[in-house]
Amino acid sequence: MSERVESVQPRGGTVLRGGTVIDVAGERRVDVRLVDGRIAETGDLPADGDAEVIDVTGLVVAPGFVDLHTHLREPGMTEAETIETGSRAAALGGYTAVVAMPNTDPTQDCVSVVEFVRSQGRSAGLCDVHPSGSITVGRAGEQLTPFAELASVGVHLFTDDGSGVQDDGLMRRALEYAGELGLVLAQHCEVSSMTTGAVMHEGECCSHLGLPGWPALAEELMVHRDIELVRLTGAPVHLLHLSTARSVALVRAAKADGLPVTAEATPHHISLTDERLGSFDPLFKVNPPLRTMADVEAVRDGLVDGTIDAIATDHAPHPPQAKERPLDAAPPGMLGLETAFGVARAHLDLELRELIGLMSWRPAAIAGLADRHGRPVEAGEPANLAVLDPDGRWTVDPGRLASRSTNTPFTDVPLVGRTRHTFLHGVAVVRDGVATR
Ligand code: DOR
Repeated sequence: MSERVESVQPRGGTVLRGGTVIDVAGERRVDVRLVDGRIAETGDLPADGDAEVIDVTGLVVAPGFVDLHTHLREPGMTEAETIETGSRAAALGGYTAVVAMPNTDPTQDCVSVVEFVRSQGRSAGLCDVHPSGSITVGRAGEQLTPFAELASVGVHLFTDDGSGVQDDGLMRRALEYAGELGLVLAQHCEVSSMTTGAVMHEGECCSHLGLPGWPALAEELMVHRDIELVRLTGAPVHLLHLSTARSVALVRAAKADGLPVTAEATPHHISLTDERLGSFDPLFKVNPPLRTMADVEAVRDGLVDGTIDAIATDHAPHPPQAKERPLDAAPPGMLGLETAFGVARAHLDLELRELIGLMSWRPAAIAGLADRHGRPVEAGEPANLAVLDPDGRWTVDPGRLASRSTNTPFTDVPLVGRTRHTFLHGVAVVRDGVATR
């Protein structure tokens, strides 16, 4: 199923002149011409009266980012976000595709809800919205959803995100079923019996503050179980928002054993620690929680050495009235789409090409979108592109974010790297840092 946005372009298309292309093939200084939703040609393109020329000197032209983990909240929680506002936030962050998490109301567990999300995304026309399906009906952890039927309408990634599948036997069956159909299951790793009432990471900080803790082990036990289920079934699993040093080590060992395990980490787990909860500010409450500096460093190392395959935002909007509740009553979650590149660039010691890979072609492959997103910047390819200012320094003003919510934890964090333009199917949906629709 391919989303299309009508393109209104001069006859000669749009030429991105003077930039550096960075894609899976490497880095080169070429101009890029976009015509009718595709890249028509690259090279040293002479002036041409029929084309619109955008000067991208000093900027990087890259395949658009792909977010494996976006909460768009629609249907059901439109006071927090809508598919349109979340898609606009995604486009401003340089994303051309997002995977929409299923914890909507109603849940994305049947064809009608999935089709609704997809069609709202198509009408917004700001990024490709690919709904995930839940693994279990209503995310209740009891009965599997109709994977084959959902796959027939284009769902590739299944997850109960917001919670993990607790029942070992059910998870085994889900893996067998998904593996046969060529689908991917994505797990929110949390043994819920160990985290009841928890508001932050269980550790020194939490004891000082006297708050109920979320032990690292609650994540690691499920990471371990799922790796063993992958060993048994041969079916792939994707592990969502890894947050602990031991989880990273378990995934590293699983990959060394040749198991089809992939993993992601969020911008907040590579930049913030549990000490931020010392302010009792619910902006820093998230699930899994912010961990210790040793965990942050291990997650960064996992991204740098290839153990962790992708940076995913876990963009989780919540309206101010919810985040203004006391810490124990406030919902977990943070905004991420508009700040991900700037946070990741500021906190990871990585070549720009490696970082773009973690946000573009590597998540595109996990999401089953590698035919449309994260593609090489070459003639004939779909023009889904981000034009990045890799060294632009900026700070976030929550009031100016496109998201309907303002729950960013990054207001006082200096960011490096910003999206200047985003092209979706050849159309500039972001121009000079401003959404065009
Ligand atoms: O912090 C989180 N918020 N983690 C999740 O897994 C779910 C998300 C949400 O939906 O708000």
